[in-house]
Amino acid sequence: MTFLGRTILIITWIPVAFTVTVTPLSRVDNGQFQGPSIRLTRWAEAAVNFVQNLNCTEVFLTRERECRKLVQVPRDQMNLYAAGPISRGRLAAVLPDGALSRSGAHNVVLVLDPYPRASFGHLVVVFFLDTLWSELQCQVNGGFYIGQGDCLSLALKNRCHNLLGRRPRRRNLVRRCEINFLPFVHLADHPPRGQEDQLLTCYDNIPGFASCPSFRPENETTQLACDPLHVNTQRCSTTHETVHTRCRISEICDQAVLLSGGWNRLSSNQESLNDLKSVFQMLRNVGFPKRNIKVFFANGAENFQVLGGESHPLYPSVFKLALRYHVKKLCESPHCVDTLVLYLNSPAMNDGSSLLWDTDGNGQVGEDETFTVGEIMVDLENCTARQVFIIADQSYSGQLIKSFNRSTRHNNVQVFTSGKEREYSWQVELTKHWVSFGHQHSCVSQVYQVS
Ligand SMILES: *[C@@H]1O[C@H](CO)[C@@H](O)[C@H](O)[C@H]1NC(C)=O
Ligand SMILES: *[C@@H]1O[C@H](CO)[C@@H](O)[C@H](O)[C@H]1NC(C)=O
Ligand SMILES: *[C@@H]1O[C@H](CO)[C@@H](O)[C@H](O)[C@H]1NC(C)=O
Ligand SMILES: *[C@@H]1O[C@H](CO)[C@@H](O)[C@H](O)[C@H]1NC(C)=O
Repeated sequence: MTFLGRTILIITWIPVAFTVTVTPLSRVDNGQFQGPSIRLTRWAEAAVNFVQNLNCTEVFLTRERECRKLVQVPRDQMNLYAAGPISRGRLAAVLPDGALSRSGAHNVVLVLDPYPRASFGHLVVVFFLDTLWSELQCQVNGGFYIGQGDCLSLALKNRCHNLLGRRPRRRNLVRRCEINFLPFVHLADHPPRGQEDQLLTCYDNIPGFASCPSFRPENETTQLACDPLHVNTQRCSTTHETVHTRCRISEICDQAVLLSGGWNRLSSNQESLNDLKSVFQMLRNVGFPKRNIKVFFANGAENFQVLGGESHPLYPSVFKLALRYHVKKLCESPHCVDTLVLYLNSPAMNDGSSLLWDTDGNGQVGEDETFTVGEIMVDLENCTARQVFIIADQSYSGQLIKSFNRSTRHNNVQVFTSGKEREYSWQVELTKHWVSFGHQHSCVSQVYQVS
């Protein structure tokens, strides 16, 4: 395994010159560094050098074209994430969409995010670092010795590692090898049991890196927050009664469902909540009734203040059953919906699935924690709405176009996406540029003859 890793990942390694003296690392109890650490600075430097000196014809961490872009990203555009070293033990890491190879137990995990302005999933580069190793021990284990007993190795996805020996087509390989999310880093001998076990942190104070995103406060992201107005007796239950679906026999209305998953604290920032507010406001401006806009966000939030200071009900994104039941009911009721808008803005996997929220805090996706393209298609099949708009401002949203284009059962569905099948979504460009579509009325009263 290690032999394979070394032969296939041939990397032009330019050694970093070290002039620093070894200083003991000051740590706080939660395992994080205190202040700018000389060691972390040196490790981060080595990781950046590693990336900038990749030989793109040889690596499998992404497609060649993407790699050529990666090696040119200046350091001051990258975010640095790190976990460890901590005294309580060694660290392991897991991705939402699979395990990492060589993920056994290491002293430090380093992550470079070259595209902080793109939504997840997008390429990130993950490293493990082991300390107090000899140069030989490092090489035998497929790592790169960076001096002072430190051994840096590139993390690969598990299935990718198995594939390297079999030499399959490069395209497949890249699809399986690319790391698209920040890993969940936890103590190796303690399987994670909640998002508070995540040890990875963004570092602002290491010179030369970009500032960290505006994360939501920890106390607001550890638990599901359910809307107190609408969920009274069964707080946080996700039954079909959770969302009040309104279809009056005498009215045809516009309806909208807004979904912003977020997945966890590190990928759900303050801006995604603000984006939801602007979409909400835009829909209000073109005449959507307030009560017909249902919002599903991350783990929920205590307060979703829309324009005018009013509070609007907000459901956690993991109320997937409630969301699906609502959409199904709208689609099955004849003469209920004129325009149905489905707005999607979540971290996404390369098959187009939206990541909702890591409710069980194990770092990996469960069936209840994703909303797949297939599920969206089932829910919108033969929808009785006059027209359905899907606005997907998320990575790999081109998968939706591909799937809906093939279908004969979604003739009234139009899909707007931020990119092609393999593309990332940049800083909610689509949301910002999405213009109001022309339609005259949001509710039409009609009289039906009941036979
Ligand atoms: C990159 O790898 C290719 C293929 O092995 C090799 O031909 C090329 O010289 C390498 N480039 C550099 C800059 O080392
Ligand atoms: C989180 O903490 C901040 C400041 O410590 C506080 O203002 C806020 O109300 C807290 N939020 C929740 C949901 O407890
Ligand atoms: C949708 O319409 C097609 C063709 O009319 C039909 O075969 C299919 O069963 C319908 N699906 C649903 C869920 O009603
Ligand atoms: C949709 O499918 C048709 C053929 O079935 C193809 O010509 C067209 O390019 C596809 N459009 C998109 C956006 O994929």
